[in-house]
Amino acid sequence: MIILGIETSCDETAAAVVQKSGDRVTILFNVVASSAALQAKYGGVIPEQAAREQIKSIIPVIEESLQASDHRQQDIDAIAVTKGPGLIGSLLVGVETAKTLATVWDKPLIPINHLLGHFYANWLGDKTPTFPCLGLLISGGHTDLVLFKDHGKYEYLGGTRDDAAGECFDKCARLLNLPYPGGPEISRLATHGDPSKFDLPRPMIDSKDFDFSFSGLKTAVSNLLQGHSLSTQGVTLRNSPKAKRDLAASIEQAIVDVLVTKTLKAAQKYKVKEIIVAGGVAANRKLASEFKLKIENCKLKISGACDSEIFNLHIPSANLCTDNAAMIAAAALFNYHPTDPLTLQANPNLSL
Ligand code: KG4
Ligand code: ZN
Repeated sequence: MIILGIETSCDETAAAVVQKSGDRVTILFNVVASSAALQAKYGGVIPEQAAREQIKSIIPVIEESLQASDHRQQDIDAIAVTKGPGLIGSLLVGVETAKTLATVWDKPLIPINHLLGHFYANWLGDKTPTFPCLGLLISGGHTDLVLFKDHGKYEYLGGTRDDAAGECFDKCARLLNLPYPGGPEISRLATHGDPSKFDLPRPMIDSKDFDFSFSGLKTAVSNLLQGHSLSTQGVTLRNSPKAKRDLAASIEQAIVDVLVTKTLKAAQKYKVKEIIVAGGVAANRKLASEFKLKIENCKLKISGACDSEIFNLHIPSANLCTDNAAMIAAAALFNYHPTDPLTLQANPNLSL
């Protein structure tokens, strides 16, 4: 089966052609046109502007993905499209285009929840996850822990009560006068910083539930910068590139500590061996190294007798962590529920 995937939930216009033969899922072509550079000028996404950019890019990216994958419309078995959540203007461009193509080409149309789609980037690699597995979704707007029992069968365990992890990265970056999107910028600065220099809070790290909260961390950074809580450091921070690098490293470490600790706690509680991480923040290198370190420590604690891996960790390659259409096509391959193109509606508030 060959699926054309379309993703336009925010400021990326993406198309991909993905094939499944047996259990193997292969990306034939995957293209993303991003208006992030334009959004960066304004320090964040302006919804109307993002939608206008979607209109400019949607037909070129679809044409390019078909041409570059060496496939024509008659080779495509179905069309998958992000139905929501996201910005309504952006979503409408993808949804209306997919509805039109499905009708004119007479192809099945599969609507996909963007959040679920992110998890399916993990089915695009060589080593695919097995069930049950624990999913950590960390995107710009979401931080969720989900227990997957099978394709389409999952239980929501917890999520953020305020800011998402990606949002916290972005807001802290803004406080540090770094460009949008802030996650990669903080991460870049953090590489040369000392994460133990600033004692930042790890909100809800010890709570019994699987919820998160990151707005307090952002406020702590804001207070630090304004010199309210630590006036001497506040002054140093404004003038010192080194202090800025140390603060970036401390922010990254605090976010990563919370994410890794709570995910491993959930995996232990639900006795799950497979962990899948998804969403833009999953591209963070510190997160991957910290997960590996903690998993290694768990192994050592259990004793030398245990030589099998305690957890299998799946993190997609960086380009598949951030928004793309290959993950949307992959999600459709495993959750094949076609809908009527005439009635499909974009839903900006769709939840998991
Ligand atoms: O999943 P995504 O591409 O878009 C949404 O669906 O929201 O996630 C975007 C988020 C942004 O907050 C961005 O700052 C963050 O992912 N991000 C990162 C990294 N790359 C992207 N955060 C930390 N480290 C990164 N390397
Ligand atoms: Zn996303």
